[in-house]
Amino acid sequence: MTLWSGRFTQTLDETAWALNTSLPVDQRMAIQDVDGSIAWADAIRKAGILSDEEHASISPGLDAVRKEFASGQFVFAPADEDIHTAVERRLTELIGPVAGKLHTGRSRNDQVATDFRLWMLQAIRELNSAFNVLQSALIEQAEAALPHPGPSPKGRGEPIVMPGYTHMQRAQPILLAHWWLSHSWPLQRDVERLNDLAKRVSVMPLGSGALAGVPFDVDRVALAESLGFAEVSQNSLDAVSDRDFAAEYLFCATMIGIHLSKLAEQIVLFTSAEFGFFELSDAFSTGSSLMPQKKNPDVFELTRGKAGMLLGLLTGLLATLKGLPSTYDKDLQEDKAPVFQATDTLLATLPVIAGALRSITVKAERMRNAIDSSMLATDLADYLVEKGVPFRKAHELAGKSVRVAGEEKVSLEKLSLEAYQAIGGVFEADVYQVFDPMRSIEKRNAVGGTSLQSVKMQLAEIKRLMSVEKP
Ligand code: ARG
Repeated sequence: MTLWSGRFTQTLDETAWALNTSLPVDQRMAIQDVDGSIAWADAIRKAGILSDEEHASISPGLDAVRKEFASGQFVFAPADEDIHTAVERRLTELIGPVAGKLHTGRSRNDQVATDFRLWMLQAIRELNSAFNVLQSALIEQAEAALPHPGPSPKGRGEPIVMPGYTHMQRAQPILLAHWWLSHSWPLQRDVERLNDLAKRVSVMPLGSGALAGVPFDVDRVALAESLGFAEVSQNSLDAVSDRDFAAEYLFCATMIGIHLSKLAEQIVLFTSAEFGFFELSDAFSTGSSLMPQKKNPDVFELTRGKAGMLLGLLTGLLATLKGLPSTYDKDLQEDKAPVFQATDTLLATLPVIAGALRSITVKAERMRNAIDSSMLATDLADYLVEKGVPFRKAHELAGKSVRVAGEEKVSLEKLSLEAYQAIGGVFEADVYQVFDPMRSIEKRNAVGGTSLQSVKMQLAEIKRLMSVEKP
Protein backbone atom coordinates (compact mmCIF):
# COMPACT_ATOMS: atom_id res chain seq x y z
CA MET A 1 0.00 0.00 0.00
CA THR A 2 1.41 3.38 -0.99
CA LEU A 3 0.12 6.73 0.21
CA TRP A 4 -1.42 7.32 -3.15
CA SER A 5 -2.87 3.89 -4.03
CA GLY A 6 -6.51 5.07 -3.94
CA ARG A 7 -6.90 5.76 -7.64
CA PHE A 8 -4.85 2.74 -8.80
CA THR A 9 -5.94 -0.80 -9.55
CA GLN A 10 -2.49 -2.29 -10.05
CA THR A 11 0.56 -2.07 -7.84
CA LEU A 12 3.67 -0.40 -9.15
CA ASP A 13 5.94 -2.57 -11.25
CA GLU A 14 8.93 -3.76 -9.25
CA THR A 15 11.53 -2.15 -11.50
CA ALA A 16 9.57 1.09 -11.58
CA TRP A 17 9.37 0.98 -7.79
CA ALA A 18 13.14 0.66 -7.55
CA LEU A 19 13.59 3.67 -9.80
CA ASN A 20 10.96 5.70 -7.98
CA THR A 21 12.02 5.12 -4.41
CA SER A 22 14.18 7.78 -2.82
CA LEU A 23 14.50 6.18 0.59
CA PRO A 24 18.14 5.08 0.18
CA VAL A 25 19.03 8.74 -0.29
CA ASP A 26 16.52 10.73 1.73
CA GLN A 27 16.60 8.64 4.91
CA ARG A 28 19.43 10.99 5.90
CA MET A 29 16.76 13.61 6.47
CA ALA A 30 14.85 11.49 8.99
CA ILE A 31 15.34 13.78 11.96
CA GLN A 32 14.44 16.86 9.90
CA ASP A 33 11.35 15.10 8.58
CA VAL A 34 10.15 14.24 12.08
CA ASP A 35 10.92 17.72 13.41
CA GLY A 36 9.01 19.25 10.50
CA SER A 37 6.09 16.94 11.27
CA ILE A 38 6.06 17.79 14.96
CA ALA A 39 5.94 21.50 14.08
CA TRP A 40 3.27 20.85 11.47
CA ALA A 41 1.14 18.97 13.98
CA ASP A 42 1.34 21.99 16.30
CA ALA A 43 0.43 24.33 13.45
CA ILE A 44 -2.65 22.39 12.34
CA ARG A 45 -3.82 22.02 15.90
CA LYS A 46 -3.71 25.81 16.25
CA ALA A 47 -5.57 25.98 12.94
CA GLY A 48 -8.30 23.78 14.44
CA ILE A 49 -7.60 20.76 12.22
CA LEU A 50 -6.37 18.53 15.01
CA SER A 51 -8.23 18.34 18.29
CA ASP A 52 -6.14 18.62 21.43
CA GLU A 53 -6.72 14.94 21.97
CA GLU A 54 -5.52 14.00 18.49
CA HIS A 55 -2.52 16.23 18.91
CA ALA A 56 -1.80 14.62 22.25
CA SER A 57 -1.50 11.33 20.44
CA ILE A 58 0.34 12.46 17.30
CA SER A 59 2.99 14.63 18.92
CA PRO A 60 4.32 12.06 21.43
CA GLY A 61 4.03 9.43 18.69
CA LEU A 62 6.38 11.52 16.56
CA ASP A 63 8.70 11.95 19.53
CA ALA A 64 8.87 8.18 19.80
CA VAL A 65 9.67 7.89 16.08
CA ARG A 66 12.35 10.51 16.48
CA LYS A 67 13.90 8.54 19.31
CA GLU A 68 13.95 5.44 17.14
CA PHE A 69 15.87 7.30 14.48
CA ALA A 70 18.22 8.94 16.95
CA SER A 71 19.11 5.60 18.55
CA GLY A 72 19.35 3.72 15.26
CA GLN A 73 16.40 1.48 16.22
CA PHE A 74 14.10 2.56 13.41
CA VAL A 75 13.26 -0.32 11.08
CA PHE A 76 12.30 0.51 7.50
CA ALA A 77 9.58 -1.50 5.80
CA PRO A 78 9.76 -2.75 2.21
CA ALA A 79 6.85 -0.51 1.27
CA ASP A 80 8.50 2.70 2.51
CA GLU A 81 8.77 4.81 -0.61
CA ASP A 82 10.67 7.69 0.91
CA ILE A 83 11.49 9.09 4.32
CA HIS A 84 8.14 10.91 4.56
CA THR A 85 6.08 7.78 4.01
CA ALA A 86 8.32 5.79 6.35
CA VAL A 87 7.70 8.24 9.18
CA GLU A 88 3.97 8.25 8.61
CA ARG A 89 3.81 4.46 8.34
CA ARG A 90 5.66 4.05 11.63
CA LEU A 91 3.52 6.68 13.33
CA THR A 92 0.43 4.76 12.22
CA GLU A 93 1.85 1.56 13.70
CA LEU A 94 2.46 3.35 16.97
CA ILE A 95 -0.73 5.38 17.40
CA GLY A 96 -3.21 3.95 14.92
CA PRO A 97 -5.37 5.62 12.25
CA VAL A 98 -5.29 9.08 13.88
CA ALA A 99 -1.79 9.33 12.36
CA GLY A 100 -3.58 9.79 9.05
CA LYS A 101 -4.57 13.30 10.13
CA LEU A 102 -1.00 14.55 10.21
CA HIS A 103 -0.65 15.06 6.47
CA THR A 104 -3.71 17.36 6.30
CA GLY A 105 -2.93 20.44 4.23
CA ARG A 106 0.61 19.30 3.58
CA SER A 107 2.21 17.72 0.53
CA ARG A 108 5.45 15.89 0.19
CA ASN A 109 6.37 18.70 -2.18
CA ASP A 110 6.53 21.35 0.51
CA GLN A 111 7.64 18.78 3.04
CA VAL A 112 10.70 17.58 1.15
CA ALA A 113 11.86 21.11 0.38
CA THR A 114 11.52 21.93 4.07
CA ASP A 115 13.44 18.85 5.21
CA PHE A 116 16.17 19.50 2.69
CA ARG A 117 16.64 23.08 3.81
CA LEU A 118 16.74 22.09 7.48
CA TRP A 119 19.31 19.44 6.64
CA MET A 120 21.43 21.92 4.73
CA LEU A 121 21.41 24.47 7.55
CA GLN A 122 22.83 21.77 9.79
CA ALA A 123 25.41 20.82 7.15
CA ILE A 124 26.53 24.44 6.89
CA ARG A 125 27.07 24.49 10.66
CA GLU A 126 29.21 21.35 10.40
CA LEU A 127 31.19 22.79 7.51
CA ASN A 128 31.79 25.95 9.53
CA SER A 129 33.49 23.99 12.27
CA ALA A 130 35.50 21.87 9.84
CA PHE A 131 36.68 25.09 8.21
CA ASN A 132 37.65 26.51 11.53
CA VAL A 133 39.98 23.59 12.14
CA LEU A 134 41.60 23.96 8.73
CA GLN A 135 41.94 27.73 9.04
CA SER A 136 43.55 27.31 12.43
CA ALA A 137 46.11 24.91 10.94
CA LEU A 138 47.03 27.45 8.26
CA ILE A 139 47.26 30.22 10.81
CA GLU A 140 49.41 28.11 13.12
CA GLN A 141 51.81 27.46 10.26
CA ALA A 142 51.87 31.14 9.32
CA GLU A 143 52.68 32.08 12.90
CA ALA A 144 55.37 29.42 13.11
CA ALA A 145 57.04 30.94 10.05
CA LEU A 146 57.35 34.36 11.71
CA PRO A 147 60.24 35.31 14.02
CA HIS A 148 60.00 33.80 17.47
CA PRO A 149 61.69 35.03 20.58
CA GLY A 150 63.61 32.42 22.55
CA PRO A 151 66.47 29.99 21.97
CA SER A 152 66.76 27.78 18.89
CA PRO A 153 65.69 25.42 17.48
CA LYS A 154 62.18 26.82 18.06
CA GLY A 155 63.32 30.38 18.57
CA ARG A 156 64.29 32.26 15.45
CA GLY A 157 65.09 35.93 14.99
CA GLU A 158 64.32 35.90 11.29
CA PRO A 159 61.12 34.99 9.50
CA ILE A 160 61.20 32.11 7.00
CA VAL A 161 61.60 33.36 3.44
CA MET A 162 60.93 31.56 0.19
CA PRO A 163 60.73 32.22 -3.53
CA GLY A 164 57.36 33.45 -4.74
CA TYR A 165 56.38 32.17 -8.17
CA THR A 166 54.46 33.37 -11.17
CA HIS A 167 54.06 31.08 -14.20
CA MET A 168 55.74 28.57 -11.85
CA GLN A 169 58.97 30.51 -12.41
CA ARG A 170 60.91 32.05 -9.54
CA ALA A 171 59.69 35.62 -9.29
CA GLN A 172 60.28 37.55 -6.04
CA PRO A 173 61.14 36.62 -2.46
CA ILE A 174 58.23 36.42 -0.04
CA LEU A 175 57.61 35.41 3.55
CA LEU A 176 56.46 31.84 4.02
CA ALA A 177 53.81 33.21 6.40
CA HIS A 178 52.46 35.31 3.52
CA TRP A 179 52.24 32.17 1.39
CA TRP A 180 50.38 30.20 4.07
CA LEU A 181 47.92 33.03 4.51
CA SER A 182 47.40 33.26 0.75
CA HIS A 183 45.62 29.92 1.10
CA SER A 184 43.66 31.09 4.08
CA TRP A 185 41.89 34.01 2.36
CA PRO A 186 40.15 31.90 -0.29
CA LEU A 187 38.86 29.65 2.47
CA GLN A 188 37.68 32.68 4.40
CA ARG A 189 35.70 33.77 1.34
CA ASP A 190 34.29 30.25 1.10
CA VAL A 191 33.08 30.42 4.67
CA GLU A 192 31.52 33.82 4.08
CA ARG A 193 29.85 32.55 0.91
CA LEU A 194 28.40 29.56 2.74
CA ASN A 195 27.05 31.70 5.54
CA ASP A 196 25.59 34.16 3.09
CA LEU A 197 23.88 31.25 1.38
CA ALA A 198 22.47 30.20 4.75
CA LYS A 199 20.17 33.26 4.57
CA ARG A 200 18.59 31.93 1.39
CA VAL A 201 18.37 28.40 2.75
CA SER A 202 16.59 29.68 5.83
CA VAL A 203 13.30 30.28 4.01
CA MET A 204 10.49 27.87 4.91
CA PRO A 205 8.44 26.29 2.09
CA LEU A 206 6.13 24.36 4.46
CA GLY A 207 2.56 25.53 4.08
CA SER A 208 2.85 25.77 0.30
CA GLY A 209 0.92 22.52 -0.12
CA ALA A 210 1.48 20.63 -3.34
CA LEU A 211 1.72 23.89 -5.26
CA ALA A 212 -1.11 26.30 -4.50
CA GLY A 213 -0.85 26.87 -0.75
CA VAL A 214 -2.54 25.54 2.37
CA PRO A 215 -6.34 25.80 2.58
CA PHE A 216 -6.39 25.98 6.39
CA ASP A 217 -5.67 28.76 8.78
CA VAL A 218 -2.00 27.91 9.39
CA ASP A 219 0.20 30.58 10.91
CA ARG A 220 3.23 30.04 8.69
CA VAL A 221 5.31 32.70 10.40
CA ALA A 222 4.94 31.05 13.78
CA LEU A 223 5.59 27.68 12.16
CA ALA A 224 8.81 28.97 10.58
CA GLU A 225 9.95 30.39 13.86
CA SER A 226 9.37 27.11 15.66
CA LEU A 227 11.53 25.31 13.08
CA GLY A 228 14.27 27.93 13.23
CA PHE A 229 13.70 29.40 9.77
CA ALA A 230 14.37 33.10 9.36
CA GLU A 231 11.64 33.66 6.76
CA VAL A 232 8.66 32.07 5.01
CA SER A 233 8.44 31.64 1.25
CA GLN A 234 6.15 34.16 -0.47
CA ASN A 235 5.01 32.17 -3.49
CA SER A 236 3.89 28.57 -3.14
CA LEU A 237 4.55 27.70 -6.79
CA ASP A 238 8.11 28.93 -6.46
CA ALA A 239 8.58 27.45 -3.01
CA VAL A 240 8.03 23.84 -4.10
CA SER A 241 10.31 24.14 -7.10
CA ASP A 242 13.07 26.42 -5.85
CA ARG A 243 16.34 24.51 -5.71
CA ASP A 244 18.56 27.56 -6.15
CA PHE A 245 19.89 26.90 -2.69
CA ALA A 246 21.02 23.39 -3.69
CA ALA A 247 22.78 24.70 -6.78
CA GLU A 248 24.39 27.50 -4.79
CA TYR A 249 25.47 25.05 -2.15
CA LEU A 250 27.10 22.89 -4.80
CA PHE A 251 28.78 25.96 -6.23
CA CYS A 252 30.16 26.74 -2.77
CA ALA A 253 31.31 23.15 -2.44
CA THR A 254 32.96 23.26 -5.84
CA MET A 255 34.72 26.52 -5.08
CA ILE A 256 35.96 25.03 -1.81
CA GLY A 257 37.13 21.99 -3.75
CA ILE A 258 38.98 24.17 -6.21
CA HIS A 259 40.67 26.14 -3.44
CA LEU A 260 41.71 22.95 -1.70
CA SER A 261 42.92 21.57 -5.01
CA LYS A 262 45.08 24.62 -5.60
CA LEU A 263 46.63 24.28 -2.17
CA ALA A 264 47.03 20.53 -2.66
CA GLU A 265 48.77 21.02 -5.99
CA GLN A 266 51.30 23.35 -4.39
CA ILE A 267 51.96 20.92 -1.57
CA VAL A 268 52.46 18.08 -4.05
CA LEU A 269 55.02 20.19 -5.88
CA PHE A 270 56.72 21.54 -2.80
CA THR A 271 57.12 18.08 -1.23
CA SER A 272 58.82 16.74 -4.36
CA ALA A 273 62.59 16.24 -4.19
CA GLU A 274 62.97 18.94 -6.84
CA PHE A 275 61.57 21.57 -4.49
CA GLY A 276 62.05 19.91 -1.12
CA PHE A 277 60.36 22.81 0.67
CA PHE A 278 58.13 20.63 2.84
CA GLU A 279 58.10 17.12 4.15
CA LEU A 280 54.86 15.40 5.00
CA SER A 281 54.60 13.56 8.28
CA ASP A 282 54.36 9.78 7.99
CA ALA A 283 50.86 9.92 9.40
CA PHE A 284 49.64 11.78 6.32
CA SER A 285 51.63 10.12 3.54
CA THR A 286 51.44 6.77 1.87
CA GLY A 287 53.97 4.36 0.46
CA SER A 288 54.37 2.52 -2.79
CA SER A 289 53.82 -1.23 -3.00
CA LEU A 290 56.74 -1.44 -5.42
CA MET A 291 59.20 1.36 -4.68
CA PRO A 292 60.39 1.21 -1.08
CA GLN A 293 61.73 4.76 -1.05
CA LYS A 294 58.43 6.42 -1.99
CA LYS A 295 56.52 8.74 0.31
CA ASN A 296 53.48 9.85 -1.59
CA PRO A 297 51.24 12.85 -0.95
CA ASP A 298 48.09 10.80 -1.68
CA VAL A 299 45.84 12.83 0.58
CA PHE A 300 46.63 15.97 -1.39
CA GLU A 301 46.28 14.23 -4.72
CA LEU A 302 42.90 12.87 -3.69
CA THR A 303 41.85 16.33 -2.60
CA ARG A 304 42.87 17.65 -6.00
CA GLY A 305 41.00 14.79 -7.65
CA LYS A 306 37.80 15.34 -5.70
CA ALA A 307 37.52 18.92 -6.93
CA GLY A 308 36.69 17.57 -10.38
CA MET A 309 33.97 15.35 -8.98
CA LEU A 310 32.46 18.29 -7.04
CA LEU A 311 32.32 20.32 -10.24
CA GLY A 312 30.52 17.40 -11.87
CA LEU A 313 27.90 17.36 -9.11
CA LEU A 314 27.24 21.07 -9.64
CA THR A 315 26.91 20.84 -13.41
CA GLY A 316 24.76 17.72 -13.04
CA LEU A 317 22.21 19.47 -10.84
CA LEU A 318 22.19 22.60 -12.98
CA ALA A 319 21.47 20.45 -16.03
CA THR A 320 18.58 18.78 -14.20
CA LEU A 321 17.09 22.13 -13.19
CA LYS A 322 17.49 23.61 -16.64
CA GLY A 323 14.87 21.36 -18.22
CA LEU A 324 12.09 21.98 -15.71
CA PRO A 325 8.89 23.99 -15.90
CA SER A 326 7.64 25.56 -12.69
CA THR A 327 6.43 23.90 -9.45
CA TYR A 328 7.32 20.37 -8.41
CA ASP A 329 8.53 17.79 -10.91
CA LYS A 330 9.91 14.43 -9.94
CA ASP A 331 13.25 15.30 -11.50
CA LEU A 332 13.75 17.36 -8.35
CA GLN A 333 14.17 14.15 -6.40
CA GLU A 334 17.65 14.04 -7.97
CA ASP A 335 18.66 17.12 -5.98
CA LYS A 336 19.69 15.47 -2.74
CA ALA A 337 22.25 12.84 -3.75
CA PRO A 338 24.75 15.38 -5.16
CA VAL A 339 24.35 17.67 -2.15
CA PHE A 340 24.90 14.77 0.25
CA GLN A 341 27.87 13.51 -1.73
CA ALA A 342 29.46 16.96 -1.85
CA THR A 343 28.97 17.38 1.88
CA ASP A 344 30.44 13.98 2.70
CA THR A 345 33.39 14.71 0.46
CA LEU A 346 34.15 18.02 2.13
CA LEU A 347 33.63 16.74 5.65
CA ALA A 348 35.97 13.84 4.89
CA THR A 349 38.61 16.04 3.26
CA LEU A 350 38.82 19.17 5.41
CA PRO A 351 40.08 17.49 8.62
CA VAL A 352 42.65 15.45 6.71
CA ILE A 353 44.10 18.51 5.05
CA ALA A 354 44.14 20.29 8.39
CA GLY A 355 46.01 17.39 10.01
CA ALA A 356 48.46 17.06 7.13
CA LEU A 357 49.25 20.78 7.14
CA ARG A 358 49.61 20.95 10.88
CA SER A 359 52.16 18.13 10.88
CA ILE A 360 54.16 19.20 7.82
CA THR A 361 57.87 19.91 8.26
CA VAL A 362 59.11 23.15 6.76
CA LYS A 363 62.58 23.06 5.18
CA ALA A 364 63.51 26.68 5.83
CA GLU A 365 67.07 26.25 4.52
CA ARG A 366 65.88 24.82 1.20
CA MET A 367 63.44 27.66 0.80
CA ARG A 368 66.02 30.30 1.60
CA ASN A 369 68.57 28.72 -0.75
CA ALA A 370 66.09 28.68 -3.58
CA ILE A 371 66.13 32.46 -3.62
CA ASP A 372 68.82 33.72 -5.98
CA SER A 373 69.75 37.30 -6.69
CA SER A 374 68.07 37.30 -10.11
CA MET A 375 64.81 37.32 -8.15
CA LEU A 376 65.85 40.78 -6.97
CA ALA A 377 66.07 42.22 -10.48
CA THR A 378 62.84 44.12 -9.87
CA ASP A 379 64.40 45.60 -6.74
CA LEU A 380 67.42 46.54 -8.83
CA ALA A 381 65.14 48.50 -11.14
CA ASP A 382 63.38 50.05 -8.12
CA TYR A 383 66.82 51.04 -6.75
CA LEU A 384 67.42 53.02 -9.93
CA VAL A 385 63.92 54.51 -9.72
CA GLU A 386 64.82 55.80 -6.26
CA LYS A 387 67.79 57.50 -7.89
CA GLY A 388 65.45 59.31 -10.24
CA VAL A 389 65.62 57.00 -13.28
CA PRO A 390 62.21 56.57 -15.01
CA PHE A 391 60.91 53.02 -14.46
CA ARG A 392 61.02 52.07 -18.16
CA LYS A 393 64.70 53.01 -18.34
CA ALA A 394 65.41 51.39 -14.97
CA HIS A 395 63.76 48.16 -16.17
CA GLU A 396 66.01 48.19 -19.23
CA LEU A 397 69.20 48.75 -17.18
CA ALA A 398 68.26 46.03 -14.70
CA GLY A 399 67.54 43.72 -17.64
CA LYS A 400 70.92 44.54 -19.11
CA SER A 401 72.53 43.71 -15.76
CA VAL A 402 70.85 40.30 -15.79
CA ARG A 403 72.15 39.72 -19.32
CA VAL A 404 75.72 40.80 -18.52
CA ALA A 405 75.77 38.72 -15.31
CA GLY A 406 74.57 35.77 -17.39
CA GLU A 407 77.33 36.33 -19.94
CA GLU A 408 79.93 36.55 -17.18
CA LYS A 409 78.39 33.51 -15.49
CA VAL A 410 78.00 35.26 -12.13
CA SER A 411 74.97 36.12 -10.06
CA LEU A 412 73.73 39.73 -9.93
CA GLU A 413 75.23 40.20 -6.50
CA LYS A 414 78.65 39.04 -7.75
CA LEU A 415 78.71 41.34 -10.75
CA SER A 416 81.48 43.92 -10.25
CA LEU A 417 80.78 47.58 -9.62
CA GLU A 418 82.75 48.39 -12.79
CA ALA A 419 80.44 46.16 -14.77
CA TYR A 420 77.39 47.88 -13.24
CA GLN A 421 78.80 51.30 -13.94
CA ALA A 422 79.52 50.29 -17.53
CA ILE A 423 75.83 49.44 -17.83
CA GLY A 424 74.69 52.70 -16.28
CA GLY A 425 76.53 55.54 -14.59
CA VAL A 426 73.88 55.87 -11.93
CA PHE A 427 74.82 52.54 -10.29
CA GLU A 428 76.80 53.16 -7.10
CA ALA A 429 78.49 51.02 -4.47
CA ASP A 430 75.23 50.86 -2.47
CA VAL A 431 73.75 48.70 -5.25
CA TYR A 432 74.76 45.55 -3.35
CA GLN A 433 72.26 46.30 -0.58
CA VAL A 434 69.58 45.40 -3.08
CA PHE A 435 70.49 41.72 -2.98
CA ASP A 436 69.25 41.07 0.51
CA PRO A 437 65.93 39.22 0.14
CA MET A 438 64.72 40.59 3.49
CA ARG A 439 65.22 44.13 2.21
CA SER A 440 63.07 43.34 -0.79
CA ILE A 441 60.42 41.79 1.43
CA GLU A 442 60.41 44.65 3.91
CA LYS A 443 59.92 47.21 1.15
CA ARG A 444 56.55 45.67 0.34
CA ASN A 445 55.00 47.25 3.35
CA ALA A 446 51.70 48.55 2.00
CA VAL A 447 48.57 46.70 3.15
CA GLY A 448 48.50 43.27 1.52
CA GLY A 449 52.24 43.13 0.84
CA THR A 450 54.73 40.55 2.06
CA SER A 451 56.58 42.69 4.63
CA LEU A 452 56.70 41.45 8.18
CA GLN A 453 54.46 44.24 9.40
CA SER A 454 51.91 43.76 6.62
CA VAL A 455 51.79 40.04 7.24
CA LYS A 456 51.29 40.56 10.96
CA MET A 457 48.41 42.92 10.23
CA GLN A 458 46.98 40.44 7.77
CA LEU A 459 47.19 37.70 10.37
CA ALA A 460 45.33 39.82 12.90
CA GLU A 461 42.66 40.64 10.32
CA ILE A 462 41.99 37.06 9.29
CA LYS A 463 41.82 36.02 12.94
CA ARG A 464 39.27 38.75 13.52
CA LEU A 465 37.19 37.60 10.56
CA MET A 466 37.39 34.00 11.69
CA SER A 467 35.99 34.90 15.06
CA VAL A 468 32.93 36.64 13.58
CA GLU A 469 29.82 34.84 14.84
CA LYS A 470 28.34 32.37 12.32
CA PRO A 471 24.58 31.70 12.10
N1 ARG B 1 10.85 11.84 -2.70
C1 ARG B 1 10.37 13.03 -3.25
C2 ARG B 1 11.55 13.99 -3.53
O1 ARG B 1 12.59 13.77 -2.99
C3 ARG B 1 9.40 13.69 -2.32
C4 ARG B 1 8.38 14.52 -3.01
C5 ARG B 1 7.49 13.64 -3.78
N2 ARG B 1 6.38 14.36 -4.30
C6 ARG B 1 5.56 13.80 -5.14
N3 ARG B 1 4.60 14.54 -5.55
N4 ARG B 1 5.69 12.58 -5.55
O2 ARG B 1 11.42 14.91 -4.29
